[in-house]
Amino acid sequence: MSNVPPNPLVVQLLGKLPEHSIVLDLGCGCGRNAIYIAKAGHAVLAVDKRKEAIEGLIDRSIREGLRILGITGDICDVLEALPHKQYDAVVCINALQFNPRARVYKAIELMQQVTKPLGFNAIESFVVRGDEEREWAIKQGWYGFKRGELQRVYEGWTMLTYSEALGPWEQHDGFPKHRHFLVRLLARKG
Ligand SMILES: C[S@@+](CC[C@H](N)C(=O)[O-])C[C@H]1O[C@@H](n2cnc3c(N)ncnc32)[C@H](O)[C@@H]1O
Repeated sequence: MSNVPPNPLVVQLLGKLPEHSIVLDLGCGCGRNAIYIAKAGHAVLAVDKRKEAIEGLIDRSIREGLRILGITGDICDVLEALPHKQYDAVVCINALQFNPRARVYKAIELMQQVTKPLGFNAIESFVVRGDEEREWAIKQGWYGFKRGELQRVYEGWTMLTYSEALGPWEQHDGFPKHRHFLVRLLARKG
């Protein structure tokens, strides 16, 4: 699983990060992005609520000598404990959507606070395109952004990438083959 290629937004981010950056990976899963970032020489604080994912990531980072600190916990709870303006980048790839709206907004507010001036946020998440999709997401306890919504939340930041489009085909967890409509944002603070 952790040999899965990194998310393209994370690849784009790496081209912009100063050497020896400190990066926060929220909802890191098995760590495809955290490992890629750490292999480029940066330090990563990786957070996920799935204990087994974090344990696997810690084992791998020890074996490969990577600077990854793994924390099992909720994104907002961990963010609340972190100092402001200390992280060169915060990435949250396909994790926010699995949380209710209030937690998504809290997480983004805190992500923005912990980011250094001129630091980066990278987000990929679901977009809902109508009432049916919105109600389905809410029933799961999830949240999908409306079109243009995430861009407004990053008003005042420099937008380096912003797109809303169908993502790649996927098949997992017993669902039929499907594609999600995704928002992809890479923004610089200031
Ligand atoms: C689809 S996976 C994406 C993993 C990784 N970011 C990637 O791009 O491969 C979503 C991950 O987000 C985590 N997640 C979702 N909401 C979370 C929350 N509130 N706190 C911590 N982890 C969360 C899940 O446990 C899961 O591992």
